[in-house]
Amino acid sequence: MSVVQRFDGLEREVREGFGEKIVALRREIHREPELGFDTEKTAAKVLAALDGLPLEIQTGVAENGVVATLEGEGEGPTVGLRADMDALPIHEETGLPFASETDGKMHACGHDGHTSMLVGAAHALSGMRHRLNGTVRFFFQPAEEGEGGGKVMVDAGVADDVDSIFALHLWPGLPFGRAATKAGPIMAAADAFEMTVKGAGGHGAMPHLTADAIAMAAQIVTALQTVVSREVDPVEPAVLTVGEIGAGTAYNIIPETARLGGTVRTLNEDLRRRMPERIEHLARGIAQGMRGDVQFDYEFSYPVTVNDEYAAWRALGVAGDLLGEDNAIELTNPSMGAEDFAYFLEKIPGAFIWLGVGEDVSGLHTPTFAFDEEILPLGSALLTALALESLSS
Ligand code: NI
Repeated sequence: MSVVQRFDGLEREVREGFGEKIVALRREIHREPELGFDTEKTAAKVLAALDGLPLEIQTGVAENGVVATLEGEGEGPTVGLRADMDALPIHEETGLPFASETDGKMHACGHDGHTSMLVGAAHALSGMRHRLNGTVRFFFQPAEEGEGGGKVMVDAGVADDVDSIFALHLWPGLPFGRAATKAGPIMAAADAFEMTVKGAGGHGAMPHLTADAIAMAAQIVTALQTVVSREVDPVEPAVLTVGEIGAGTAYNIIPETARLGGTVRTLNEDLRRRMPERIEHLARGIAQGMRGDVQFDYEFSYPVTVNDEYAAWRALGVAGDLLGEDNAIELTNPSMGAEDFAYFLEKIPGAFIWLGVGEDVSGLHTPTFAFDEEILPLGSALLTALALESLSS
């Protein structure tokens, strides 16, 4: 079989065989979004959709995660395919007929699509066991959005014997049906700081008798802008965003304290580890210079999502053969967003791949995020092809 022909007809086969099932499942999941680790109903929908397939199934991994294993007929390595199942605390405004039925919860990051695409791949690959030299393991994980369900799943050991792993993310801004990835960092580390600026409160008319925490906080926010511009190598990407600020109870009272919170994004582990000291030192210096102080907390969260060079190259090859060369895009730049698939990639060589849903689609995490469901069977076919490729050599 020539390289060009190896995935001929696969997309059509998946679309005609399982397309309706994949879309129906996506709508069911979309209608009933669940947050964090509480993806019990979503997991039940996944299990129902996998029913009857020749899979060995483990439930209750990372609370409501599902791990399904498909043994091929031949001997060989184990390839992992991963999807996330959780939604976001956003009130949906898409007006879709299958929109969220729960106020304040919405699948606004496409995880309903990821889960359905992976179920579609499980169906397609189950019918191709004779072509598989090795094992495919399907990971349906909860709590991607901030709580690190991927880490809990990896720590549970269910990926210990996996030799390579892939995951897709639906991606607004990328033309429809294009797959994009790169070797090395593709998503940033996302860490967080919180500080309480402490002064001495008093009357708004007698500032000389106080230590003004608001004035300190304002100076600190301004000074923090110099952390990236003055402390980080100019060719090294980094983001420091103060996203929270709060203080005071009345217009004429100088409060005791002010509170700041922010996120720090980096792509380099050394820089990542240096950031807390730089931020704390600067903030404390300013506060102390104004007769105050800070209480500082820093939390290291998701690490950098780093694609294995060979896996990324392989994924681009598969995408090119399946979707056409023009639809396989090697990215120049990573995103400064973060992704807990990073925890899988810390242990297993693999690749995170963006799958374009179009340039005029609302961004991820917005109340109007909606995509053309034609992408779903295409994503299933891509996951299927990645597994076939990994187990055919
Ligand atoms: Ni996401």
